[in-house]
Amino acid sequence: MLKDDVERELNVQIGEETASAWLYLSMAAWFESMNLPGFANWMFVQAQEELVHARMFYDFVHERRGRVILGAIAAPPTEWASPLEAFEAAFAHEVHITERIHFLTGLADRVADYPTRVFLHWFVTEQVEEEASADEIVQKLRMLGETGSGLFMLDRELGTRVFTPPAAPAT
Ligand SMILES: [Fe+2]
Ligand SMILES: [Fe+2]
Repeated sequence: MLKDDVERELNVQIGEETASAWLYLSMAAWFESMNLPGFANWMFVQAQEELVHARMFYDFVHERRGRVILGAIAAPPTEWASPLEAFEAAFAHEVHITERIHFLTGLADRVADYPTRVFLHWFVTEQVEEEASADEIVQKLRMLGETGSGLFMLDRELGTRVFTPPAAPAT
């Protein structure tokens, strides 16, 4: 059984992961409107991954005989000043999610909820990768500058990303 505060925070995290998907889908739509289909593809794949994360928390709450309660998802921003600004926002968002995962990990530790602690381990590792992959594109955008040819090349590269469902942790 889950303790009440752990159950509540795991439910909050279902919302956080869904809000992440909503944010990246909004960024995908903005990149489409900017005629950058490769950037849009990258963001769309990212949104799909976030929905898998939400589903992992959803399933975990049920596995622990908890109750899933969904809350409101706030409307995401719809425009960014530049591709660089969008990716900086994506990076900042991942830093926020990392803080959430660390907060949850600390909570599980404090109440000696070892199954939740083990479950979160996958997300601790995942967040290292999430921050690194957003930051890598921020750095490339800075390096290339946002000129036509640099952006075109990066758009082609980001267009090759395909969705592969994350390998879920064994629980
Ligand atoms: Fe996530
Ligand atoms: Fe993420």
